[in-house]
Amino acid sequence: MEFKKRILVTGGAGFIGSHLVRLFVNKYPDYQIINFDKLTYAGNLENLRDVENAPNYVFVKGDIVSISDVQAAFETHGITDVIHLAAESHVDRSIEGPMDFVLTNVVGTVNLLQTSKDFWKGSDHVFHHVSTDEVYGSLGVEGFFTEKTPFDPRSPYSASKASSDHFVSAFFHTYGLPIKMSNCSNNYGSHHFPEKLIPLMILNIQNNKPLPVYGKGENIRDWLWVEDHVRAIDVIFHTGKIGESYTIGGLNEWTNIDLVHFLCRMMDEKLGREIGTSEKLITYVTDRKGHDLRYAIDASKLENELGWKPSIAFDEGLNRTVDWYLANQEWIEKVTSGAYQKYYSNMYSDR
Ligand code: NAD
Ligand code: TYD
Repeated sequence: MEFKKRILVTGGAGFIGSHLVRLFVNKYPDYQIINFDKLTYAGNLENLRDVENAPNYVFVKGDIVSISDVQAAFETHGITDVIHLAAESHVDRSIEGPMDFVLTNVVGTVNLLQTSKDFWKGSDHVFHHVSTDEVYGSLGVEGFFTEKTPFDPRSPYSASKASSDHFVSAFFHTYGLPIKMSNCSNNYGSHHFPEKLIPLMILNIQNNKPLPVYGKGENIRDWLWVEDHVRAIDVIFHTGKIGESYTIGGLNEWTNIDLVHFLCRMMDEKLGREIGTSEKLITYVTDRKGHDLRYAIDASKLENELGWKPSIAFDEGLNRTVDWYLANQEWIEKVTSGAYQKYYSNMYSDR
C-alpha cells in the first residue's frame, strides 16, 4: 500500500509515545507509523500489544544518539514526517546523572534535525518536537506559562529539554526546516512508568508501602490526561503553524500533598479499605534538589486558534488510571522487576 505519510515517532514505546502511536495507527490507516525506540528502562513494547499487528505499524529498535541508526530508519522507510518524543524524562534521574540527558535529549534531537534537513526536499513535511513546560522554570504562587515565557530551566532534565527546543527553533530559523513545537504540563494515565509521582503512589498505596512526599508536599503541578496531550499533538501536527510553539495544559493545579490525599481516599474506596487507612502511609522525605515550586499553563493559543480543549475532568481521568493499574498486574510486574528494585532502593532508602 502507498501511504500518504510515513511518520517516524521516536520514543513510541514510552508512556506518552505509546498513546500517540495507538491514536495515529487507529485513526490514520493511510499513514504508516514507524515507532523508533531504543527500549530503555522506560520503553516497553507491552504498551503497544494491541496495535503491533496493524498493517500501518512498524517497530524499529534504534538509538537517536546514533546518526547511523537514524539515517538508516529514514532511508529504509522513506520518512516524510517526525513526531519526536524520545527522551530521558525523569527529573530525579537527571539529578543523579545528567550526561544521558545531554546525549539523548540534546545530541539525539540534533541528529534527528540534521537527518530531516538532509533527507527532506520541498516543504510538505513536519518535524513536531514534543517538549515540556519545565523549560520555563518555576512559577511563584501566581501567573501562568505561555508560549512567550522566557526559558529558565533549573534541573538538568529541563536544561536538556530547553537546549533541544532551542536547536529545533534554530533549524527553523537557519535552514527553514518545517518544525512545530509543543510544551506540555505533567501528564498522567495508563502505562506510566512508576518512578513518576502518580503511578508510584498508586503502586505504593496498593502494596501498603510508604508514600514518599518530597519536602512539605507544597509544590504544585498542573496535571493533564495523557489522551488529551496526544489529541493536542494530533491537532498541532495537522493544523498548527510551521515555526510556532504551543503550550498545552489542563488548568488543573494540585499541591502534591492534596493529590496524594485524593489518591489515598480514592484507592481506599476501590480496595475496600476503611477511609483514612492509606493516608497513614504518607511519609515526608528529603526534598528534591532545586525543586521547582509551581508549574501552570495558559493554553489559550491552542484553544482559540486550533480548537483543542481537555476532554475529561481530573477525577474521571484519575479513576480510569487507578482502575487500569489495578487491572494490569502483569504489566506492573514486568516493569518493576530487576532494575526497578535497584533504582527504588538507591533513590528512596536513605531519604
Ligand atoms: P518516557 O520516559 O515514558 O519514554 C521515553 C521513551 O523514549 C522510551 O520509550 C525510551 O525507550 C525512549 N528513548 C529514550 N532514549 C532513547 C534514545 N536514545 N533513542 C531512542 N529512544 C529512546 O517519557 P514520556 O513521559 O512518555 O515523555 C515523552 C516526551 O514527552 C519526552 O520528550 C518528554 O520530555 C515529553 N513530556 C513529558 C511529560 C510527562 O509528563 N511525562 C510532559 C511534557 C512533555
Ligand atoms: P514527577 O512525577 O517526577 O514529575 P516532575 O518532577 O517532572 O514534575 O514529580 C511530580 C511532583 O511530585 C514533583 O513536585 C516532585 C513530587 N514527587 C514526590 O513528592 N515524591 C515522589 O516520590 C516523586 C517521584 C515526586
